[in-house]
Amino acid sequence: MSWTKVLSVDELSDGKRQVVKIGDRKILMINNSGKIYAVSNSCPHLKLPMKKGKITEDCAIVCPFHRSVFSLETGEVKQWSTFPPLVGTFLGKVSSPKPLPVFPIRVNEGHIEIDIDS
Ligand code: FES
Repeated sequence: MSWTKVLSVDELSDGKRQVVKIGDRKILMINNSGKIYAVSNSCPHLKLPMKKGKITEDCAIVCPFHRSVFSLETGEVKQWSTFPPLVGTFLGKVSSPKPLPVFPIRVNEGHIEIDIDS
């Protein structure tokens, strides 16, 4: 494992989100009800940014563009490109369903670290 320090814990309080850059990757950091997640900021559908995605009650993130839904815990696809009606389904066929990359995190001496290599 290769841990990279990205933010202090204070910078990501409950309900906050922030995009950090590691190399050429953009990682979306989210604090959802006190639990921290690190996911790719690039939607696996058409590579559009996930930053403004809504968080659901069952801990998933909804892409703000065509409303694909991914588990924040595992990145599993729960729904694939359903918006707008009809067009979203067509767009969903442009790219087959793929999980959202998720990354392990740990808190070390007041800082959030992520491992993007595992
Ligand atoms: S870019 Fe995210 S669902 Fe299309």
